[in-house]
Amino acid sequence: MNAYVITADRIATMTKAEGYGLIMGGAIVVDGAQMAWVGPLEALPASYAALPRRDFGPRTITPALIDCHTHLVYGGNRAGEFEMRLTGATYEEIARAGGGIISTVTATRTASEAALLAAALPRLDALIAQGVGVVEVKSGYGLDLDTELKMLRTARALGAARAVRVLTTFLGAHAVPDCMAADSYIDTICIPALRAAHAQGLVDAVDGFCEGIGFTPAQIARVFDVARALGLPVKLHAEQLSAFGGTALAAQYRALSADHVEYASADDAAALAAAGTVAVLLPGAFYTIRETQIPPIAAFRAHGVPMAVATDWNPGSSPLGSILLAMNMACTLFRLTPAEALAGTTRHAARALGLTDCGQIAANMRADLAIWDVTSPAELAYGIAVTPLHARIFGGVL
Ligand code: NIG
Ligand code: FE
Repeated sequence: MNAYVITADRIATMTKAEGYGLIMGGAIVVDGAQMAWVGPLEALPASYAALPRRDFGPRTITPALIDCHTHLVYGGNRAGEFEMRLTGATYEEIARAGGGIISTVTATRTASEAALLAAALPRLDALIAQGVGVVEVKSGYGLDLDTELKMLRTARALGAARAVRVLTTFLGAHAVPDCMAADSYIDTICIPALRAAHAQGLVDAVDGFCEGIGFTPAQIARVFDVARALGLPVKLHAEQLSAFGGTALAAQYRALSADHVEYASADDAAALAAAGTVAVLLPGAFYTIRETQIPPIAAFRAHGVPMAVATDWNPGSSPLGSILLAMNMACTLFRLTPAEALAGTTRHAARALGLTDCGQIAANMRADLAIWDVTSPAELAYGIAVTPLHARIFGGVL
């Protein structure tokens, strides 16, 4: 049996509805890619007593982190747009003038697959260096068949190149390409591209941008109907810039997640709770576009909506390469507790991706773990541009 025991002063199991599910003086039995037993060292069953041990002493062990919303694959960058916003233009104005997402589309279409991979790998490595074990990567900077497929293949190649799990999300309904009407784009490009990408095994979930500068709920519903017919789960960029009906639509389709949700209402929160849909908070985008509307955190709490936290790493609205900083921002900008922020990048992030085998430290879960040089888990969200990772275990491999 390829098994061993790890011990540490503190294990934040993240198995409880509130708090960290802390085990002091804890032990984890790793057997192959999974955990076989978790508990206080003093209760370690005799059958495991002779296994090799690795003691991490005063450190803290958490589940490996999960970044459940990224756009890691893209060509070019949007530093010029950043400069424009600093002289007064808004994110929405730049998008309506043909900049924004559409400018990244041009750069992504012209980039080779090898160039896209080479540009994305350091981004993935930055997340791995922060203890991340699962990353979701979206398409959506192609808006044509070939480029959407190229982006999704690149995302799959990222997962093959590193010890990390990459889940792919088809985001064909991200923006309306130049010189096209939204309805005809959905019917003649987006939906056929979704079918082709699914046929090639490139799609784990389907997303859209439901917004005045994106697509209407009715247009997104057409894409979701196809996703449903293909047996694919859905998620949605909803209520980011305005109250536009996306969150209600996501709940109606029992989406895995509704993301951004700054303009969601208390009724939206109730609908998400009833549907079992996760609210994914993206404070990096809130910060970058200098949004002032805070997501309805109190309503999410009151209704028991699980809240995940992610980077939304993308070249425009969230050039944020740090999941730990996303956690810090979720606390400082949205007033999450550090325990909620950590649940948001572990247990609830797993759920936002439809994963049931990670995001918690418990028997039969994958042995995806992060070992931190901190003496309380609150330090993870507290530090700003601090990365106290000591080691990461992925699939049982240290
Ligand atoms: O999650 N809101 C739409 N999509 C991205 C932005 C992408 C971009 O600006 O390039 C987001 O914020
Ligand atoms: Fe996004």
